[in-house]
Amino acid sequence: MNYTVVLPAAGSGKRMKADKNKLLLELFGKPIFLYTLEVFERDPNCEAIWLAVKEHERELIEEYVKRYDITKVKGYAAGGTERQDSVRACLEAIPPCGVVLVHDAARPFIDHEVIARLVEAAQESGAAVAGVPVKDTIKKVENGVISETVDRNQLWMIQTPQAFRYSLILKAAQAAHNDGFMGTDEAMLVERMDYPVAIIESTYENIKMTTPDDLIYGRAILESRIQEEQK
Ligand code: CTP
Ligand code: MG
Repeated sequence: MNYTVVLPAAGSGKRMKADKNKLLLELFGKPIFLYTLEVFERDPNCEAIWLAVKEHERELIEEYVKRYDITKVKGYAAGGTERQDSVRACLEAIPPCGVVLVHDAARPFIDHEVIARLVEAAQESGAAVAGVPVKDTIKKVENGVISETVDRNQLWMIQTPQAFRYSLILKAAQAAHNDGFMGTDEAMLVERMDYPVAIIESTYENIKMTTPDDLIYGRAILESRIQEEQK
């Protein structure tokens, strides 16, 4: 089932504490966002890739796209102040299509199987997001004291990709913008329209490169994948 992917890549990576956009940091000599692009370049069901980028980084990113022979990038949108603005700019720029996937450029370890299940679910029901059950015990803390232990059985950590019918996510993104609503993911924008969002179980490897320790885990994931390929 074909889809278009929108990749927000216009952040600054403050929590990574690097001196540049964390997506440009390298793992084994290749910038993080190139790993993400390659996943979609190699997925036969991916028809088009759109990137939200900062204006002053666009030239550099375009150069990398050329150098690594990524052929599916069909366009760029100007990143906004918040991630949600960057995603909306992309959604408004892409040609109408069936299913759109929104995926953080900072999650390079997503696999094709999860993507395929998300796209199928979105085509059927309109909206589906990737997530994994929480592993730890979760407690609510107020003023340094535990006020509640939350029942873990119902808790999921939500990731991207998040897949939607194009018309639904465009409408939801524009409605949120008009209402001044800021969500932390795209699902929230659809949820507030009382639209059901399905969960697709993803993998714990699909981490978002956020803090310096994620670089260590990221390298380990790549190493184990290389070892698997050599078997
Ligand atoms: N992003 C974006 N536009 C923004 C902010 C974020 O396109 N205004 C992108 C990032 O480049 C990243 C994804 O959204 O691929 C997820 O955001 P996050 O992990 O928070 O990245 P940053 O905002 O760059 O990091 P930080 O919050 O630590 O500054
Ligand atoms: Mg951020």
